[in-house]
Amino acid sequence: MNTLSVDHLLGIKYLKEADLQLIFETADHFKEVINRPIKKVPSLRDVTIANLFFENSTRTKLSFELAEKRLSADILNFSAAQSSVKKGETLIDTVNNILAMKVDMVVMRHPNPGAAEFLSKNVNAIIVNAGDGTHEHPTQALLDTYSIRERFGEVTGKRIVIVGDILHSRVALSNIFALNMLGAEVKVCGPKSLLPKHIESLGVTIEPDLKRALSWCDAANMLRVQNERMDKSYFPSIREYTQLYGLTLPLLKSLRKEITILHPGPMNRGVEISSDVADSEHAIILDQVENGVAIRMAVIYLLAAKLIKPQQ
Ligand code: CP
Repeated sequence: MNTLSVDHLLGIKYLKEADLQLIFETADHFKEVINRPIKKVPSLRDVTIANLFFENSTRTKLSFELAEKRLSADILNFSAAQSSVKKGETLIDTVNNILAMKVDMVVMRHPNPGAAEFLSKNVNAIIVNAGDGTHEHPTQALLDTYSIRERFGEVTGKRIVIVGDILHSRVALSNIFALNMLGAEVKVCGPKSLLPKHIESLGVTIEPDLKRALSWCDAANMLRVQNERMDKSYFPSIREYTQLYGLTLPLLKSLRKEITILHPGPMNRGVEISSDVADSEHAIILDQVENGVAIRMAVIYLLAAKLIKPQQ
C-alpha cells in the first residue's frame, strides 16, 4: 500500500495498521531528509496549508509549521485569540473564508471533542486533527509509537504503561488505539478518579500501583495532570498525587531493570516526573519532539498526495 485509507487525519481510530506502517516508513525517509545539510524538499510546492489553533500549543504548532516548511508548502497561521472568532464568527464561516483564499489543507487544534470530524463533513479541504479537546491527538500518538519503534526496533509485543490523567487525555486515547493496532500490550496507571469508567473495554488493563506498573513495562508514557480541563478536584493535593504517581530517579533505580520514559509535553517537572528523570538517559522526550517533525511531514505529504495531480 502506498496511499492512506483515509482522506483526513481525524483520529487513530479511523486508521488501519497498514496506514500506520506507511506513515512510519514515510517518516523514516523524511527523518533522513531533515538531518541533511539541506533540510527542505520541493514535494508540496503547490499546496497551501492553514494552521488553525483555537487552543494553546508549543510543540504541535511549531512542529506542523516546520514540517510544512520542510515540504515547501505555502502556509497561513491562524490564532483564535487574534481573530474574528472573538466577534462571534462560526467555525465553518471562519474556515470557509480561509478556504476562499485557495487553501488546500487545514491543520486544526480545537478545545471541543469532535471539532475536526465536524469540519471534515462541512468544508471542502483536507482536515488534520492537531488535538480536539479530550478526544484524540493522532499525530502525538504516531510520534510516540514511532519513537517506541525507533528505541526497540518494533512495537509489537512491547509492554507500555500510560501513567496519570487518562480521563482528560487525548494523548492517552490515541496512544491506546495506536499501540493496540501495532500489537503492544497496554496498561494504564493513575488515581481511580482519573481513569475513565470503561477504559478496559479499549483493550487495556489497569494497574493502580506505579511501582508494579513500571516493573512490568518496557516503556512508560508519563502524562500531565490537565488542570485546565478539570471543574473539580480529582485527588486531595498535588503533593499526594506526586507521592503516588510521580516518577523519580530513586523509583526508577529501584526497578532493577532499564525502562524507557516518554512524555508528550508540556511537562510539570516535580509533579508527574522529576527533573533528574526528565533529563536522564532513560527519557526520549526530545527524540519524540524531533520525530514529531518527520511524522507530521509524512502525514501531510501522504494526505496531500491525494490532491496533487501528475504534471502534464
Ligand atoms: N504534546 C503537545 O500536544 O504539546 P503542545 O500542547 O505544546 O502542542
